[in-house]
Amino acid sequence: MTAKTRLVAGNWKMNGSKASLMEIEAVKTGLANPPGVEVAVCPPATLISRAHIVVGGSPILVGGQDCHAEVSGAHTGDLAAEMLADAGATYVIVGHSERRADHGETDAVVRAKAEAGWRAGLTVILCVGETRAQREAGEALAVVEGQLAGSVPDGARARNLVIAYEPVWAIGTGLTPTGADIAEMHAHIGARLAERFGEDGAGMRILYGGSVKPDNAAEIFAVAGVDGALVGGASLKAADFLAIINAARPAE
Ligand code: PGA
Repeated sequence: MTAKTRLVAGNWKMNGSKASLMEIEAVKTGLANPPGVEVAVCPPATLISRAHIVVGGSPILVGGQDCHAEVSGAHTGDLAAEMLADAGATYVIVGHSERRADHGETDAVVRAKAEAGWRAGLTVILCVGETRAQREAGEALAVVEGQLAGSVPDGARARNLVIAYEPVWAIGTGLTPTGADIAEMHAHIGARLAERFGEDGAGMRILYGGSVKPDNAAEIFAVAGVDGALVGGASLKAADFLAIINAARPAE
């Protein structure tokens, strides 16, 4: 199997205004040529079309942070995957733990959103991860396995799906699992995907997310089975995000 191209995706969450587009501009300017990794920025939906213009002519891709499962209709405040694509997105994050917790999104909802992303031609970044209590109870592997079974649709292929393993307790806390724990979980996810989707499953990228920073990025990317990162807080500043992107570049 050919080596997977790593993906470093920034998730701005509910942060950023048009002034923040400067950060994307700075990432564009600071990227090595060629970058050696795939780079995506997922700003708030209000900035997707502007971000799409800013990244023009660079390898940076733009993504949405969520989408509705339907194409259109009476869903005040929601956005269809087709709208994200129309605004210039090529990626969409679904099933982030903040959506699962704040909006009660179940595995079935996440699965429908992933299918909506594909319907619109987007590549889906689907998030899974255990809570602290679940890890302490020794249930982390089983919880993530259940999320994969429940939220990854049958149409998943290496080209349309990226999994992001994000332990809930590591998000925004400065805490990260040990390298051994990350390796164990990524191997477990990889095995389940390969079991279900064969060679295609084995080719799917598995990102790590949760407090990835410039000072721990190299260590995290050195862990077996880590095919990139989903970066929250540290993606808001170009210098930090660039440092993480550079840490993900394959050795010459
Ligand atoms: P963090 O967020 O990097 O700020 O911990 C990661 C995420 O939630 O995607």
